[in-house]
Amino acid sequence: MLTIRPEGLDDRQAVFEVHHRAFGRVNEARLVEALRRSPAFIPELSLVALDGPRAVGHILMTRMVVKTATGSLPALALAPVAVLPEFQGRGIGSALVRQGLQGARHLGHRVVIVVGHPGYYPRFGFIPAERFGIRPPFVVSPGAFMVLELQVDALRGVQGEVEYPPEFAQVVSQP
Ligand SMILES: CC(C)(COP(=O)(O)OP(=O)(O)OC[C@H]1O[C@@H](n2cnc3c(N)ncnc32)[C@H](O)[C@@H]1OP(=O)(O)O)[C@@H](O)C(=O)NCCC(=O)NCCS
Repeated sequence: MLTIRPEGLDDRQAVFEVHHRAFGRVNEARLVEALRRSPAFIPELSLVALDGPRAVGHILMTRMVVKTATGSLPALALAPVAVLPEFQGRGIGSALVRQGLQGARHLGHRVVIVVGHPGYYPRFGFIPAERFGIRPPFVVSPGAFMVLELQVDALRGVQGEVEYPPEFAQVVSQP
C-alpha cells in the first residue's frame, strides 16, 4: 500500500538512495541534503512515498522568487522528484506531485516553477513559463521551464527572471 507523508529524520538515508538510484548520480541527492539546511526549506513540502515501510519516492519544493521590475514575488521550486527505478510507471511520481501541490496550496503558496519534461508536467496544470514572461536564470530546452498558478491570476502582470536558492547552482552544476 502506498502512503505519502512529510519526511522524518529517519527517512533521510532512504531519500538519498531514492535520488541516487533514480538519477544515477549523487547530485540531486546532495542537493536535497543541502536544501534541508537552507532557509528555503519547508519541512511540510518534503514528502516521502512509502510502499509499506519502504521509502520508494520523494519530492521537494523549496522557496524561490520571481524578480520583477518592482520587487520579488515568492514562488516554489519543484525539484527534485524521484521514484526508485523498479517502482516507476505505477503512478507514484504523479501521486507525489499532486500531494505536493495540494500541500503547497494549503500552505498559501501561489506559484510553482519546475524544470522538467514538457510531456509530463502539463498533466498537473503546468504551462510554459514564457507565456507569462517568466524567464529561467539559465539555458533550458524549449518548453521545459514551466509554471503553475496555485491561485487564480497569481501571475497576472508578473514578468521577470526567477532566482533559485543558491544550493541549486552549488550542487547540481558539479560533474
Ligand atoms: C519522473 C519520475 C519521478 C516519474 O515517476 P513515476 O512514478 O514513474 O511517474 P508516474 O508513474 O506517475 O507517471 C509515469 C509517466 O511519467 C512519464 N515519465 C517518467 N519519466 C519521465 C521522464 N524522465 N521524462 C518524461 N516523462 C517521464 C512516463 O512516460 C509516464 O507517462 P504516461 O503516463 O504518459 O505513460 C520518475 O520516472 C523518476 O524518478 N525519474 C528519474 C528522475 C527524474 O528524471 N526526475 C524528474 C526530474 S526532477
